[in-house]
Amino acid sequence: MKNGKLQVAVVGCGGIANQKHFPALTNQADKCEITAFCDIIEERARKAAEKYGAEGAKVYTDYQELLKDESIDVVHVCTPNVAHCPITVAAFEAGKHVMCEKPMAATTEDAQKMMDAWKKSGKKFTIGYQNRFRTDAQALKRICEEGKLGDIYFAKAHAVRRRAVPTWGVFPDKSKQGGGSPADKECKQWLEAIIEDKEPLVKPEQAFVVTQILDTIYKAAAEGHEIAL
Ligand SMILES: NC(=O)c1ccc[n+]([C@@H]2O[C@H](COP(=O)([O-])OP(=O)(O)OC[C@H]3O[C@@H](n4cnc5c(N)ncnc54)[C@H](O)[C@@H]3O)[C@@H](O)[C@H]2O)c1
Repeated sequence: MKNGKLQVAVVGCGGIANQKHFPALTNQADKCEITAFCDIIEERARKAAEKYGAEGAKVYTDYQELLKDESIDVVHVCTPNVAHCPITVAAFEAGKHVMCEKPMAATTEDAQKMMDAWKKSGKKFTIGYQNRFRTDAQALKRICEEGKLGDIYFAKAHAVRRRAVPTWGVFPDKSKQGGGSPADKECKQWLEAIIEDKEPLVKPEQAFVVTQILDTIYKAAAEGHEIAL
């Protein structure tokens, strides 16, 4: 904390960071400021720092260097999925809180490493499953809790994405995302189906289960099984 504000670092200054994280953090300027920007493409980090950075914000191309800065409280991990684990684990080891983009990791093994590092650190950890904060999702949850739907023994969810299948950026790239576009889109809905708590943050345990489900899907697909999502 500096001047009563959380010091935030963002690793990965691409699509989701620019579309959501930077504007959202800037909207909370009374509570936090972005003081460090990291991307393996330096130009992206520099541009973001110019637009959204606090005075004197630093630019990095190596997250390990960024993590040496003791003034940083929170790290947002906005890189492709395969990079979530090493960055998150290193951030916990450096004593930072972590907000990591979804899905938690590309494999169960990576997600387990993240869970272990988080528990050892005693820091806060959440994954970017924002759909649970939607008013429709919260209204449905309230109705369920109030018992208006009786005893629920079966639930089926259907979602329509009006902006088509994401074919841009890293989405369809299995080497970076783990499961490709369908799995990436679907994982949020898996999570919404299993959420039962009232905590304001998405619990890492919930995201871990989602990663296990996705991992099972990826492995079955890799073995040649047909997957219907
Ligand atoms: N919550 C959501 O609805 C939502 C939406 C879109 C994307 N995402 C997630 O956000 C993450 C990023 O997706 P995106 O669309 O922004 O991808 P992107 O490719 O646009 O941005 C990722 C950035 O990370 C950088 N990068 C890669 N490896 C790095 C490393 N080791 N260190 C520092 N920077 C590194 C890349 O250069 C790139 O600029 C993915 O995990 C994706 O699943 C979530």
